[in-house]
Amino acid sequence: MNISKFVAPEIIFGRGSLSQLGESVVRIGASKVFLVSDEGVINAGWVDQAVHYLHAAGLETEIFSSLTTNPKDCEVTEGALRYRESGCDGIVAVGGGSPTDVAKAIAILATNGGVLQDYEGINKISRPLPPMVIAPSTAGAGSEVSQFAIIVDTARKLKMSIISKSLVPDIAIVDPELVQTMDSKLAAATGLDAFTHGIESYVSLAATTLTDIQALKAIQLASCNLRQAVTNRHDMEANTNMSMASLTAGLAFSNAILGATHAMTHQVDGLIDQHHGETNAAILPQVMEFNLIACPERFRDIAVAMGENVTGLSTMAAAELAVIAVKQLISDIGLAKGLGKLGLAAEFIPLLSENALKDACLVTNPRGASREDIEAIFRKCM
Ligand SMILES: [Fe+2]
Repeated sequence: MNISKFVAPEIIFGRGSLSQLGESVVRIGASKVFLVSDEGVINAGWVDQAVHYLHAAGLETEIFSSLTTNPKDCEVTEGALRYRESGCDGIVAVGGGSPTDVAKAIAILATNGGVLQDYEGINKISRPLPPMVIAPSTAGAGSEVSQFAIIVDTARKLKMSIISKSLVPDIAIVDPELVQTMDSKLAAATGLDAFTHGIESYVSLAATTLTDIQALKAIQLASCNLRQAVTNRHDMEANTNMSMASLTAGLAFSNAILGATHAMTHQVDGLIDQHHGETNAAILPQVMEFNLIACPERFRDIAVAMGENVTGLSTMAAAELAVIAVKQLISDIGLAKGLGKLGLAAEFIPLLSENALKDACLVTNPRGASREDIEAIFRKCM
């Protein structure tokens, strides 16, 4: 038997679609909404707008915004407590990957109890979650459509991957207007994250025809629009295309899972608290070079999706073009820094490598990787 599954929420896409928020929450049956966001999104005015749409639909709101760059377990614990005290019966996130993943994790603890570590790994959530609507304010994480919540375990200093079908929200509202208030640095980091999702899900061992379509579209859209989105933050065509890149990449990786790049960035992000997109930029090209030999045809497809001319080239030569093109893209958007410059000390590499081996994302990497392999890749990324 060769059976595959593909899960996705209802998706509302387009400029101005945040106006659908109130009606969407009414449709999923909530009456008082726990709205998770952060200071940056509040300052950009999007939370006020979201609250306006929720109130216009007759809904009550409770705002939770005590969040930092990488979503942390202690923030989730506090949020779950606030959710239970508030009498809310639905969750909305307006923000990037951090508020979105915190919102999902609050939903887990609010209805399933225990601590977040109980749910690390695949399919550990047993009870239904509160209804959820998510409106991303960045074009990168793809969490608005995914089965993932990635949360920092502050004691172990690593990111836990919680993967379950119940983490797919009921409705994703993707309004490209929201992403235009990101600055260039955040646009680069989040966009590179979306691009990495596309690459890793396309070469994943769990890839299917359905995820391939989404992954290749994400790669093509990001490689054609990310430079422009970074250099001109008000280019709404580039912003809209990056929102679609993030969405399609999210659909791809939610169903095909990821690979060694994310297994490694999850460890680094828990230790040095840099933006996840920046650590992806430092690691992705080295992981691609490691993986080339396992599936050169797939990397040739990536080169073609990125607009490279592969006519007359051998499969491997065409595949290598994909790595060159990715390095160029990372350099063009200002993210070619290396893990050392991002603040990682080499002495942590053995511990990070050990932890990366336990990350669920490594299971679908196209080439098997030992602890020594991971250590060698980490050293090349410094
Ligand atoms: Fe990511």
